[in-house]
Amino acid sequence: MAAIIILLICLHLCTADLGIMEINRIPCAHDNWSGNDRFMKHHLHPDTPTTTDIEEWTKFIKKINCCSRVMQSFLNPEQTSKVEQVCTEAGGKVFQPNNNLCISKDKFTFIEVRVSSDECKVFKVSNVTQNIILGCDRFREKCLPVHFESNSNNKTPQKSDTNCGSALEVWN
Ligand SMILES: *[C@@H]1O[C@H](CO)[C@@H](O)[C@H](O)[C@H]1NC(C)=O
Ligand SMILES: *[C@@H]1O[C@H](CO)[C@@H](O)[C@H](O)[C@H]1NC(C)=O
Repeated sequence: MAAIIILLICLHLCTADLGIMEINRIPCAHDNWSGNDRFMKHHLHPDTPTTTDIEEWTKFIKKINCCSRVMQSFLNPEQTSKVEQVCTEAGGKVFQPNNNLCISKDKFTFIEVRVSSDECKVFKVSNVTQNIILGCDRFREKCLPVHFESNSNNKTPQKSDTNCGSALEVWN
């Protein structure tokens, strides 16, 4: 019974940020009380392995109870403030209209793992360097990351794009 409850909680936590984005969203304009906490657990975890060793990554994914997501990305927790800056004018540009996404001005190096969910085993660990795309919402008067969007086409921001975080000004 307990195992089933834990599994259900994990399924919920692990799939919650795959939900369909609301339309008419812009970065930093909506309050989101739980999104940043979840982002930190899933993408900026303090215990993130610093190697590309498959065994270590399997142990870690089991420990944080996230076996159900087949592809997961982990940023370097030492870069937390730099990651948070992607949701501000200093570090990010609005990625596309009608969404809360911002793309980083700088490239980040992070680890991408592929998980075989039925056995809860990591089978591929890649060290990726690219611009990152984050969902950014308001939390306690700050604009913070709430979602990691994969940048599968290796997009980069344009100089002419609006800076991220501009919507926060309107509110303050
Ligand atoms: C908070 O962020 C998460 C992750 O992007 C999203 O699924 C959720 O809908 C957001 N909540 C609100 C109230 O905007
Ligand atoms: C990933 O690559 C970067 C630069 O290419 C390197 O500095 C870093 O140590 C690598 N990380 C891991 C975990 O192998």
